[in-house]
Amino acid sequence: MRVIIRKTYEEISVEAAKLVTSRIEKKPEFVLGLATGSSPLGLYRELINLNKKGVVSFKKVKTFNLDEYYGLKGDHPQSYRYFMNTNLFDHIDIDKANTMVPDGTAQDWEEFCRHYEQKIKEAGGIDLQVLGIGSDGHIAFNEPGSSLASRTRLVALDAQTIEDNSRFFEDKNQVPRFALSMGVGTILEAKEIILIANGKNKAKAIAQAIEGPLTSMISASALQMHPKVSYFLDEEAASELKRINYYKFVEEAEKKLGKEIF
Ligand code: GLP
Repeated sequence: MRVIIRKTYEEISVEAAKLVTSRIEKKPEFVLGLATGSSPLGLYRELINLNKKGVVSFKKVKTFNLDEYYGLKGDHPQSYRYFMNTNLFDHIDIDKANTMVPDGTAQDWEEFCRHYEQKIKEAGGIDLQVLGIGSDGHIAFNEPGSSLASRTRLVALDAQTIEDNSRFFEDKNQVPRFALSMGVGTILEAKEIILIANGKNKAKAIAQAIEGPLTSMISASALQMHPKVSYFLDEEAASELKRINYYKFVEEAEKKLGKEIF
């Protein structure tokens, strides 16, 4: 595990973008797992800049998003498909046919979820999964109590998530109560994972995920089971961690060695 801490959100976004682009450079036919929410927005802005400058190309990249609200069509302004189009896909050289977001209108959602997992397998698995974290410690929409072996499925949203995400809707009653989400087990199969968190309201969840016990009550703690995870945190999100000095020491050692230490 690597924990990269910087003063500002802009700095962690730049660091995260460096990691993503370095991986795509090595493997242009990259399979990238993507997340929505405000946390990865800085990364997406940076990737757009780097793409426009010709530093990175997405022509051969395939993407799979973590989740989608159930009941929202892709053209709904609060749908995650709409979010991805407007915040990333419309601005880079990716072929939209290679961008997969769960279909929030799938009638037979069980069949759809099986199919989504199958598509990930057929693509060769996810090379790098980008994650944010909910204030209750969830990843994707794996609410507290989600099985750590869970797969892509329909999930009922927790009251806390509905509250947190109501800021994007006119009122709380418009927030969908269900979502289609990759499971914790699905996420753990990605070959590499990065998690981006900023702001004070993520500090507790981050401390529980990184330094707390492994528990389904904090689905992000399952990342402790994964051998290749990098956390990108601003100082506020890192503020409740106890081993900050150790993480900084490891980063210094990485610089000296010229290699990442997981
Ligand atoms: C939602 C998404 C998660 C995201 C979380 C945090 O619940 N399903 O993938 O990590 O919100 O969002 P934000 O980054 O806006 O705080």
